[in-house]
Amino acid sequence: MLLKGKRGIISGALDSNSIAWKVAEEAVKQGAIITLTNAPIAMRMGEINKLAEQCNATIIPADATSVPELENLFTKSQEVLGGKIDFVLHSIGMSPNIRKNIPYTQLNYDFYNKSIDVSALSLHKMLSVAYKQDAISEWGSVVALSYIAAQRVYPFYTDMADAKAMLESIARTFGYHYGKHRKVRVNTISQSPTKTTAGSGVKGMAEFFDYAQDLSPLGNATAEDCANYCISMFSDYTRMVTMQNLYHDGGYSSTGVSTEIMDGLVK
Ligand SMILES: NC(=O)c1ccc[n+]([C@@H]2O[C@H](COP(=O)([O-])OP(=O)(O)OC[C@H]3O[C@@H](n4cnc5c(N)ncnc54)[C@H](O)[C@@H]3O)[C@@H](O)[C@H]2O)c1
Repeated sequence: MLLKGKRGIISGALDSNSIAWKVAEEAVKQGAIITLTNAPIAMRMGEINKLAEQCNATIIPADATSVPELENLFTKSQEVLGGKIDFVLHSIGMSPNIRKNIPYTQLNYDFYNKSIDVSALSLHKMLSVAYKQDAISEWGSVVALSYIAAQRVYPFYTDMADAKAMLESIARTFGYHYGKHRKVRVNTISQSPTKTTAGSGVKGMAEFFDYAQDLSPLGNATAEDCANYCISMFSDYTRMVTMQNLYHDGGYSSTGVSTEIMDGLVK
């Protein structure tokens, strides 16, 4: 019961493959009470209702690019959950350039702005709304999900790489200000490739999944593993961890080459 008595907001649960879906399930198992949120358009698929029922959670729709909708999300969540919020999961990413298969050298800039707004600025907007409303309790924890393309080139990840670099920078900088202000912690978790809707939308990601599996000494971290890591970051056992980008990748980020990859090259 690592999260006993804690109140949380979980964004980004689209279907049962979503990383956020597993985080919601585990958070409730660990004693938390939560609200769920996603873009109104994503709710039309109806899947999230199943999760809400299972987790006894209220759904509060919010497009994460809209400040008024985020204001409503934080106000309503505090009402429904009966107090300030202890943890927030930002699990939101989308690139119209990737959806339309546009290469990095020829990006459509309207799409590019959308990718940045949805995938990075939305974290700033969430944090800023929470800061102004004083909605997060002292020692509260905010986690956003990232990917190693923020540090290294993965050509198929195109403008999402820029968005993730910005996301990690926002976590660091806002983490400083919110830490000083209310001892609220802000971190990113840089997750292994994972078979989800967002993950499968990136052309080449499926093939790359096997490469990452072979390179990582522990293999790829699953969505369930990621959920467990998020829970530990929301718990009081990680009180002094903030402004970090935390690799959760089975050792991938520290490995140059593995014998499995070498064997594949020799054949
Ligand atoms: N799947 C991977 O390989 C992988 C690896 C590292 C990091 N991540 C990150 O994990 C996070 C969750 O992705 P996932 O893999 O679980 O896929 P997913 O498709 O299940 O989740 C992405 C979510 O973003 C939501 N979203 C999109 N636009 C939105 C908006 N305007 N407002 C609010 N919500 C919006 C979608 O509705 C969806 O629920 C993303 O940030 C993704 O970049 C994924």
